[in-house]
Amino acid sequence: MRFPKGGSLILFATALQYILAVDAIPRPPLSWAEASEKASTFVSQLTTVEKVGLVTGAYGSGLLPCVGTIAPIERLGFDGLCLSDGPAGVARSDGVSVFASGITVAATWDRRLMYERGLALGQEFRAKGSHVLLGPSAGPMGRHARGGRNWEGFGPDPYLAGVAMSESVSGIQAAGVQTVSKHYIGNEQETQRVNSTRDDGTIIEAISANIDDRTLHELYLWPFANAVHAGTSSVMCGYNRVNGSYSCANSEILRKVLKEELAFPGYIVSDWDATHSTEDTANAGLDMEMPGNSTVSGTYYFGDSLIQAINAGRVSMVRLDDMARRVMVPYFRLGQDVGFPTPDPSSGALLVTYTYGRGSPLSSLYPEVPARDVRGNHARGIRELGAAGTVLLKNVNGALPLTNETSFAVFGNDAPDPTLGSVYLVYGDDAVGNEMGTLDIGGGSGTVRHTNLVSPLEAIRKKVTSIGGRLQWLFDNKEIADGRFRSIYPVPQVCLLFLKAFATEGIDRADIDFQWNATMAVESTAELCPNTIVVTHSPGVALMPWAENENVTAILAAHYPGEETGNSLADVLWGVVEPSGRLPYTIPRAASHYGPPLVELPEPVTDPNAWQADFVEGQMIDYRHFDANVGLEPLYEFGFGLSYTSFEMGQALHVELVGGPLEPVADHSKGTAPGGLIDLWSTVAVVTVNVTNSGHRKGSAVLQLYISLPEDTTPAGTPVKVLRGFEKVVLKVDETRKVKFKLLRRDLSYWDVVNKQWIIPKGPIRFMAGFSSRDIRASSELTV
Ligand SMILES: *[C@@H]1O[C@H](CO)[C@@H](O)[C@H](O)[C@H]1NC(C)=O
Ligand SMILES: *[C@@H]1O[C@H](CO)[C@@H](O)[C@H](O)[C@H]1NC(C)=O
Ligand SMILES: *[C@@H]1O[C@H](CO)[C@@H](O)[C@H](O)[C@H]1NC(C)=O
Ligand SMILES: *[C@@H]1O[C@H](CO)[C@@H](O)[C@H](O)[C@H]1NC(C)=O
Ligand SMILES: *[C@@H]1O[C@H](CO)[C@@H](O)[C@H](O)[C@H]1NC(C)=O
Ligand SMILES: *[C@@H]1O[C@H](CO)[C@@H](O)[C@H](O)[C@H]1NC(C)=O
Ligand SMILES: *[C@@H]1O[C@H](CO)[C@@H](O)[C@H](O)[C@H]1NC(C)=O
Repeated sequence: MRFPKGGSLILFATALQYILAVDAIPRPPLSWAEASEKASTFVSQLTTVEKVGLVTGAYGSGLLPCVGTIAPIERLGFDGLCLSDGPAGVARSDGVSVFASGITVAATWDRRLMYERGLALGQEFRAKGSHVLLGPSAGPMGRHARGGRNWEGFGPDPYLAGVAMSESVSGIQAAGVQTVSKHYIGNEQETQRVNSTRDDGTIIEAISANIDDRTLHELYLWPFANAVHAGTSSVMCGYNRVNGSYSCANSEILRKVLKEELAFPGYIVSDWDATHSTEDTANAGLDMEMPGNSTVSGTYYFGDSLIQAINAGRVSMVRLDDMARRVMVPYFRLGQDVGFPTPDPSSGALLVTYTYGRGSPLSSLYPEVPARDVRGNHARGIRELGAAGTVLLKNVNGALPLTNETSFAVFGNDAPDPTLGSVYLVYGDDAVGNEMGTLDIGGGSGTVRHTNLVSPLEAIRKKVTSIGGRLQWLFDNKEIADGRFRSIYPVPQVCLLFLKAFATEGIDRADIDFQWNATMAVESTAELCPNTIVVTHSPGVALMPWAENENVTAILAAHYPGEETGNSLADVLWGVVEPSGRLPYTIPRAASHYGPPLVELPEPVTDPNAWQADFVEGQMIDYRHFDANVGLEPLYEFGFGLSYTSFEMGQALHVELVGGPLEPVADHSKGTAPGGLIDLWSTVAVVTVNVTNSGHRKGSAVLQLYISLPEDTTPAGTPVKVLRGFEKVVLKVDETRKVKFKLLRRDLSYWDVVNKQWIIPKGPIRFMAGFSSRDIRASSELTV
């Protein structure tokens, strides 16, 4: 969502009725059918105005000081809904945890950690009184390395992102909190993501993502299908247009694809101010407008306009009932009607302080009260996940893990605490970020205020002190780049250099380099120090032109790991845990190698329809793009990452079909459930390989299964190979384990645009298991 920079946000002082809630332990969800029946009964008791109230939001007000709210209906005991950002912690709050960002989560390749993070996130939202978490995100996926919001989601591979969506939705909702899977769909660039108005009043429309049907299904829609299958309560339509019409008014993607094909039973909510019309959106399938009654622009399209549209017959009462029922179904399904904590009273004061600063006239609306501290023991899990999402890209001369070294230096402006305090306020108008301070999360609505932050400097200093060592430091990157190191004596045994690349909602990155003279900083550090270890904090893809420098002995890509960033890293450096992360994207050797550029039009743009993004590369993004361009070598490929031990895989790969030969098309008689045809989700094959720890330490192997569909029986545009399975297994020294990958019908199918269905092609399918997209160790072919 967008959040105003000042001035236009009106927080209503109208006190809503304070309704006491009991914090009951969430019970297992009701079935969709049971919940739907309750919702129908509820909606049948409402007046038209009340129904419209359920589907028209507002910014926080009174006792529901949330970034989005649905007003209570007191006579029926409905307390209203509080919606909060999302997706890596309760935004604009105090007493909350800053969890790892989506890209870090994807880098763990670990289903358990994905689920547990979701559960802990959900617990914090619930304890803060937020019914709805605005996340997880699978859009953008990362078509463009420069995308400002790539870090919020799970990377450019749909299978990995799909698993992460599924585990996140399940975890968050197990805490009784609704998920809003976002941003649907094709929201791949921030540049012109919303419409703009020229000085002469001409409205220049938002970027249009023009995506063909097959690419939509096999790439951008795929992780949303997982989210729906896992029971996501809601889906958020994005700012951009799709094939020329605004996402929130596109009946093809909302009604046909999401509600009919994927059988999505929950509600579609608009991104904040992404609604541009009344009946066009309502009839296309939008169920809830946000923020609604008090938009930043002052314009909203549901509320009274929707009542008029109903009265004039432009939107049917049947449709309004459906909208209201859909909004209420997840509320009943997750048991939010049987006791839910009231919003934390500190939320209002925080919302005002955060947005306008202290001394704003709005401050008088909300007295400052201590926040509810809802963090519990979540720091432990954040520390574990931060380490598990750290990818070791290079390790020579036995640089890592550290053993008996005693003389260290910490270099770089990414190592210490941020000098500007607990929150990265930078929003949209500047993709540079703050100069001084570590980056553990990006900017925009997805950022989270730090109640606690353990910087790399703090954790490393503590460790070095505990072993009686010596730590020197230099944080000013200009001083480092300058290369004179006047303050350093003697030359440390180990130089830890921290680099960062900031990214934020609202603006795309200017480039994909590390910032603040990073390359010069690496080169001058390496000149000083033959044992230079580079640690990076990035939102995803970032160039490393210095990777092959002889004195850079190790590289750790730590992404945006959340508030325990320093501890997570120290655990990896000293080998308390091994680096078990693997890249959830490809690092190219040059920016131009990565794939389609952003659409950036030179000013002045006068044609209202000028912003068009044709997704002509189809599915060929990230590793599929490198595979399709023979000879284009990445620096570090998708799925890559080193360990402190080594692994071998047996050359045999065994494929077993479940239930005999496969029909090409799903069995429709099995019916439909959230996620689409039930049969698409049945296991049709099991692949088995053996893996051995052949090194000298316990470690985690991340086995990856790729498949190639036959070339001559699939249409043009089929990727060379696609990920269709992964397992992370912990192995003791010399231990061998049999690892199984279960393949679902969808995993072996392509989307047939003619008959609009998934088809398993005739001919041999190639199954390939390995340790990265370019490190295949075992394969076999099977004609299904
Ligand atoms: C928005 O307006 C509608 C009707 O105009 C009203 O019923 C509803 O309560 C309002 N919502 C909020 C959150 O103020
Ligand atoms: C976007 O378009 C709508 C009309 O659909 C208009 O009301 C709004 O002011 C425009 N927003 C901007 C920022 O130009
Ligand atoms: C968008 O247009 C392409 C090309 O005409 C078509 O294949 C696709 O089905 C359209 N998608 C939607 C959602 O309308
Ligand atoms: C540190 O340990 C390594 C072997 O692990 C050894 O070769 C080296 O001499 C030791 N260095 C110091 C300073 O003790
Ligand atoms: C560092 O980068 C800035 C611009 O980002 C530049 O103005 C400055 O000269 C650089 N410093 C050095 C030492 O290269
Ligand atoms: C690497 O370190 C050695 C020893 O300090 C130095 O002589 C050499 O120039 C360094 N190489 C680079 C590329 O900085
Ligand atoms: C894995 O190892 C077991 C035991 O050595 C062996 O029986 C089995 O055939 C192996 N499986 C594969 C796929 O290599």
